[in-house]
Amino acid sequence: MIARMATNPLPQFPPGFLWGVSTSAHQIEGAADERDPSVWDAFTAEPGRIKDGSTAEVACDHYHRYPEDVALLAGLGVDAYRFSVSWPRVNSPGGLDFYDRLVDELCAAGVRPVPTLFHWDLPLELDWLSRDTAARFADHAAVVAERLGDRVKKWITLNEPAEHTLLGHALGAHAPGRRLLFDALPVAHHQLLAHGLAVRALRAAGADDIGIANSHGPTWAASRRTEDVEAADFYDVLLNRLFSDPLLLGRYPEGIGELLPGDVESDLKVIAEPLDWYGVNYYQPTKVGAPEGAEIEFSGLTLPADLPFSVRELEGYPVTDFGWPVVPEALTELLVGLRERYGDRLPPVVITENGCSYEGIDDQERIAFLDGHVRALHRALEQGVDVRGYFVWSLMDNFEWAEGYARRFGLVHVDYDTLERTPKASYTWLRAALRAQARR
Ligand code: FCB
Repeated sequence: MIARMATNPLPQFPPGFLWGVSTSAHQIEGAADERDPSVWDAFTAEPGRIKDGSTAEVACDHYHRYPEDVALLAGLGVDAYRFSVSWPRVNSPGGLDFYDRLVDELCAAGVRPVPTLFHWDLPLELDWLSRDTAARFADHAAVVAERLGDRVKKWITLNEPAEHTLLGHALGAHAPGRRLLFDALPVAHHQLLAHGLAVRALRAAGADDIGIANSHGPTWAASRRTEDVEAADFYDVLLNRLFSDPLLLGRYPEGIGELLPGDVESDLKVIAEPLDWYGVNYYQPTKVGAPEGAEIEFSGLTLPADLPFSVRELEGYPVTDFGWPVVPEALTELLVGLRERYGDRLPPVVITENGCSYEGIDDQERIAFLDGHVRALHRALEQGVDVRGYFVWSLMDNFEWAEGYARRFGLVHVDYDTLERTPKASYTWLRAALRAQARR
């Protein structure tokens, strides 16, 4: 595969900048019969939940094919690989052995393992509405750290608690499929508490390189009208600040703490345990206006009519095959905005996910997307944001949650009949870009 290179070389990133790719357990591993069930298995089994009617029982069969996938990582030349450790697999006999083998394989290939301890596949018997799940998560973190901590140095506690709360518990589009709307707020709090307790557990196990992968995107008001600005601000609180203020400022945005159960003040001390770095997953900005009093179909979701905001179509930008607008400059805006809001409380930032869904192996659109976003990231560096790494979502095509296999985010194509892996043009492009970074 010959990649038509983007004409200009990428700007030079500082020495030690960490280049990587990301995946998650449920989306690639398969071998579902070799572990305990998760909420995603139960959700997927409900008719109509997954758009193409597929399941993740086999997915990319990474569980059995991991040596081939590690060879792809080594061939790509990334410094690091972000994967997730499936909590139900860790609970199953022999489950941790798999991650032990994977970590050994990565270390032998010279790729740094960066595990995420929770990427949405909660053990079926657990529930984030229960506060006890936070303590259970800290135990899970301790078990994994004890087994892998001799080789794993960089840790991620949670992936996108915002999406897991919103999609899984408020809107019911993801597992466990609840539609609690604002009653889902305890799910956010319990995950944040779980994060803080896990940071303590990891520190007790000797870890000193701990982050989280929070999703963030700029919220753009539909107009300057007060109603639109206020609605956008509210949305920004729900999707962004609700998950970053407690971590970085030790408090909830105004009006939120009162809605939460338990002794929130003392929980916040745990939640705000200092982090070594802050992970940001960025995909797109969102345009938000005053409520329009009607249900909204947005990005495959049905948003109820009675929300205090309405999400609008962002016009004037190219879109991916998923319909997501491609707005690299919003990544610069986001990072500069985080720096402005949190100042010295913001630890060094790592982009833990960024990517796009396009069909085809000659994926020139993905090359253009990544090229644009890496340049936008560099502009944030030039503006003084301390960014230390960038991870592409995803190494390979995989089970894209409620979308099933219809969305292809990979640098590597997966044929779901034969499970054959084929590097796309974007893989070749990224390999050349990483070599050029290393040479200079
Ligand atoms: C993120 C998820 C990741 C993947 C990408 C496309 O929200 O963390 O698992 O689904 O979106």
